[in-house]
Amino acid sequence: MVEGSTGSPRADFVVVANRLPVDLERAPDGSQRWKRSPGGLVTALEPMLRSREGAWIGWPGLADADVEPLVEDGLQLHPVRLCAQEVQDYYEGFSNGTLWPLYHDVVAPPAFHRHWWQAYVRVNQRFAETVAEVAAEGATIWVQDYQLQLLPAALRELRPDLRIGFFLHIPFPPTELFMQLPWRREIVEGLLGADLVGFHTPGGVRNFRWLATHLAGAKAGHGRNEILVDERPVRIGAFPISIDSAALDQLSRSDSVRKRAAEIRADLGDPEKIVLGVDRLDYTKGIDVRLLAFQELLEEGRISSEDTVMVQLATPSRERVEHYQRMRNDIEQSVGRINGEFSRVGFPAVHYLHQSLPREELAAFFLAADVMLVTPLRDGMNLVAKEYVACRHDLGGALVLSEFAGAAIELAQAFQVNPHDTDGVKNTLYEALTVTPEEGRKRMKALRRQVMTHDVDRWARSFLDALGMPEPVDARHG
Ligand code: ADP
Ligand code: G6P
Repeated sequence: MVEGSTGSPRADFVVVANRLPVDLERAPDGSQRWKRSPGGLVTALEPMLRSREGAWIGWPGLADADVEPLVEDGLQLHPVRLCAQEVQDYYEGFSNGTLWPLYHDVVAPPAFHRHWWQAYVRVNQRFAETVAEVAAEGATIWVQDYQLQLLPAALRELRPDLRIGFFLHIPFPPTELFMQLPWRREIVEGLLGADLVGFHTPGGVRNFRWLATHLAGAKAGHGRNEILVDERPVRIGAFPISIDSAALDQLSRSDSVRKRAAEIRADLGDPEKIVLGVDRLDYTKGIDVRLLAFQELLEEGRISSEDTVMVQLATPSRERVEHYQRMRNDIEQSVGRINGEFSRVGFPAVHYLHQSLPREELAAFFLAADVMLVTPLRDGMNLVAKEYVACRHDLGGALVLSEFAGAAIELAQAFQVNPHDTDGVKNTLYEALTVTPEEGRKRMKALRRQVMTHDVDRWARSFLDALGMPEPVDARHG
């Protein structure tokens, strides 16, 4: 095996994402420890990469951290260093202050700053140089998400021998919104450096095809899934991401999780119904929408806090970005207002945890919840919805799901809502709370048929097959 300059062997399969699957945390006493990174990208990719023995290139999550490449649980990790100013301009700024809101239907106004863009260009170039170091001759490189859209073209310049795929984990916006971006052509050209560009939905594919044609002069190729860029074929397609369904199903069947689910219900005061929300604390998730619906049902006396309790688990996220700070204040105020009006001593109406919980604990909450509220204003896929379904081996529970989550295409039997329609969300939540057991089971069975047969491995295989990645040696002989 060839050695890279880092001393570790060069890799035939490399995943590149803004973040490593683990995050370096520095305690006030200066000590450091690794913990799991937040968000759906890591949830989906980690099991996939572990089974394929690849390398993962990404930022370790702290500014100015000098970390040597390491092997963690059999996975080769290659950290990319970002200085504090780059974290501010490239990550918090251009990635999460410009692209994130722009790509999520401008539910918050995006800011366009030239110095953020310059940092984005610089950091994408650095990632490309790191990949060029780590990748073996002819390796397959899988670039992930909106933080690295310039990487495919930058990498092709450095290493034309590589096979490059790109997958966008968030929605690709309508063309009218994308056209607001002062650097729209550069982004499209950056993506077109890949051999395959993947999105969650056919809508994303359509938007991108139009932009590639109008901004970068791409021509029609063979069939609807190919375009030509200077005669070079680039494939485009929809690949709806998923979860490790079997692992979660199994976890939720374990005695410890079932016991914990019963304990959670008892700890909540044995209510008749538990309503659950689980999200990264993000303004796209519509946490305010569901709190308002719950509040109005209490106000109207259609439910009472003695028999219906809401739990909202929210992972801290992007806490230095202004929109996130404002939204956190608003949500915490709403929770306070609802509890002020409707709680009894020892029995809050809404339990709100601004914490990240272990997988087992999360599975127990999913199993305990009678209604799962997933109400984003816009979401690329939303894995939480699929995780809830995977945990309901008992065919219990009801999923309320926003039409504006990518998952709505596959999860047609959920109680679907338009999150902009408060009355609609309220009435649908009530319908889910009062559904007959037979109807609930019928819906859950249909949802599980979809989720259990379309797991993350199938997603990865279909993407990598479309990219033409050679099969791993053990799969060929196995
Ligand atoms: P996003 O990628 O935007 O965060 P997804 O719903 O696709 O949204 O993925 C979120 C992931 O984070 C899921 O795997 C979910 O289980 C996990 N998650 C969300 N909230 C929590 C929490 N409070 N504690 C632990 N994990 C969480
Ligand atoms: C979403 C994005 C990911 C991101 C994750 C967590 O899933 O698609 O790219 O990693 O959120 O956000 P963060 O900013 O903490 O990495």
